[in-house]
Amino acid sequence: MPKKILFVFGTRPEAIKLAPVIRAFEKEAAFRAVVCVTGQHRQMLDQVIFAFRLRVDHDLSIMTGNQTLADITTGALNGLADLYRKIRPDLVMVQGDTTTVMAGALAAFYLKIPVGHVEAGLRSFDLANPFPEEMNRIMADRVAALHFAPTRLAKRNLIKEGIGRKTITVTGNTVVDALAGIRNQTRDFSDASLRRLFGGRGMMGRASRLILLTAHRRENFGRPLEEICKAIAALARRYQDAVVVYPVHLNPNVQRTARRMLKGVSRVTLTAPLDYMDLIELLRRSYLVLTDSGGIQEEAPAFGKPVLILRRVTERPEAVAAGCARVIGEVTSQNILKAVRPLFEQPSAYRAMARVRNPFGDGRASWRIVQATRRFFGLSADVAEFVPGRS
Ligand code: UD1
Repeated sequence: MPKKILFVFGTRPEAIKLAPVIRAFEKEAAFRAVVCVTGQHRQMLDQVIFAFRLRVDHDLSIMTGNQTLADITTGALNGLADLYRKIRPDLVMVQGDTTTVMAGALAAFYLKIPVGHVEAGLRSFDLANPFPEEMNRIMADRVAALHFAPTRLAKRNLIKEGIGRKTITVTGNTVVDALAGIRNQTRDFSDASLRRLFGGRGMMGRASRLILLTAHRRENFGRPLEEICKAIAALARRYQDAVVVYPVHLNPNVQRTARRMLKGVSRVTLTAPLDYMDLIELLRRSYLVLTDSGGIQEEAPAFGKPVLILRRVTERPEAVAAGCARVIGEVTSQNILKAVRPLFEQPSAYRAMARVRNPFGDGRASWRIVQATRRFFGLSADVAEFVPGRS
């Protein structure tokens, strides 16, 4: 009997990073991959499911308008516990640090079903930042039987917390696998797709320098997001060749501020959330990336794009150490402008950050996750871990 592996996810980034893992398990006769979405996100999740052609077996549809963290947690916990009881998976697989991940791991723990955690061991060491994600990933790691750490640093974080070494495998980040999978498919932006995205305003002139902006984190709601918008408006005024594209997350707290402060500002385009291919294409064409997203921090180095992280801390210091990302610190307009200035005005400073190397993975993370899972079930021996710079 193949082992039943239940993949549980609820938001866009989890779907992107689990898609290659699901594909890898589908190829193995020893496993049967079953997919459950909580539907913590609706539109943004459906986009990715479509782009990666994932087959969804169970959908809990828990999203409500302006949902609270307690709504998501209770909805997912109850719905998942019922499902686990019904279909009895041999292993529940979750990815990352959203509320779906925490609830998915906890529901499995209550039923004594082993949990595999993809992207285990990321830590900012500050429970308030990112909130509530730092707590979510600590809890998921605490109950997981299998830890798939993307980097050696993540493994060290887990060992320091007393997590058993034997449960940890350094795999690389699956986002690099996801990128490799779609890289060949990214379409060159035709005039038609440019018009579709930007309303035919022709703001993507060849000579212009494109800034890709994304911001959606809870700790940036309110004042910090206003400061980000203020900095963006100032940048567009100061650098006549700069164009900013901001795909605005559907969270109403983000939508309200972004529209109020940036709508109609010249050379700033607000778009609906982009589908993954468009986002990657935009990333490929960008000059500079400003973001508070975790996934984009990992994707930008694959294209040699400097990243300014719109946060006080990052749980992904590997890119900072490699020299391709910088943390803004306190999110103020002044700090953002100060960090952007050398990148726009000093070619050498730009070149130093734009070196292409990706410390996060080599495209074989999903394969290593399958091998480590085989080992867990006594189906095969050891797995060679990910070592940056070696493939
Ligand atoms: C969540 C995750 C965050 C992750 C982000 C990725 C938690 C606590 N936060 O944040 O870690 O980085 O997703 O995007 O799990 N909405 C829609 N349609 C959608 C998606 C969202 O309308 O497709 C709106 C809903 O009104 C919803 C609100 O966004 O109530 C907030 O969603 P929620 O999942 O609570 O938080 P995010 O900010 O999306």
